[in-house]
Amino acid sequence: MTLDTSMSLENHEAGSDLDIAAMRRSYGELGLEEVPENPFSLFAQWLQAANANPAIVEANAMVLSTADFQGQITSRTVLLKGVTEERFVFFTNYNSRKGRAIHSQPQVSLLFPWFAMERQVSVSGSAEKISEAESAKYFASRPWGHQIGTWASRQSDPLASRSELELRWAAAAAKWPEGSVVPKPPHWGGYCVAPQEIEFWQGRYSRLHDRIRYSRSESEWEIQRYYP
Ligand SMILES: Cc1cc2nc3c(=O)[nH]c(=O)nc-3n(C[C@H](O)[C@H](O)[C@H](O)COP(=O)(O)O)c2cc1C
Repeated sequence: MTLDTSMSLENHEAGSDLDIAAMRRSYGELGLEEVPENPFSLFAQWLQAANANPAIVEANAMVLSTADFQGQITSRTVLLKGVTEERFVFFTNYNSRKGRAIHSQPQVSLLFPWFAMERQVSVSGSAEKISEAESAKYFASRPWGHQIGTWASRQSDPLASRSELELRWAAAAAKWPEGSVVPKPPHWGGYCVAPQEIEFWQGRYSRLHDRIRYSRSESEWEIQRYYP
């Protein structure tokens, strides 16, 4: 088999070819020599740095991968909305594809791809629902339009047309006009992911990248460096 590394973009952009194999950057400014005992303090430092970096949009966006009961893995982006008691929290529709997958198989992975800083953090662990009270508190803090959108969307279900979605949004908006208290839908709320492992990856010169993995053992974190 020969590897065809050039992908024609003719269909998208007339006259331009992309040589995928030649796409590379040199890494190396930042190092990961000394790390704290607790991965969450390093995570907090990195998240803060990513958030302050204008080259990174949505620093709290993370790729969530789930496996369904047949072992089929799917990935999508969700927003990190908090880190409490060493757990990563995000919000979604419990009836969505990801919600159904987590219901049958709670092991998930999270990936923060901070390419502009030559960094990634990957997390593997298990997800569970947060309390209804905590979800309701966060739901109440969301803008009205987002709250209405949550009622309008049957997330991950087939949708016949965009107008159907807009009609559902308008119906929910009529039921709870702007300024009124919108209740949290019962099928919407948060999950928290308790990590078993958290790995920090920092790009370095000559592909001699730093990889530091924290693994949970009892109540402690073991720290191990890995070959890149
Ligand atoms: C930047 C970004 C942030 C997103 N944040 C969320 C989120 O916090 N919660 C959510 O349910 N979907 C979020 N989405 C949409 C999901 O990626 C996904 O399309 C949706 O949740 C349905 O996924 P599923 O059918 O696999 O369950 C986001 C998408 C993007 C691109």
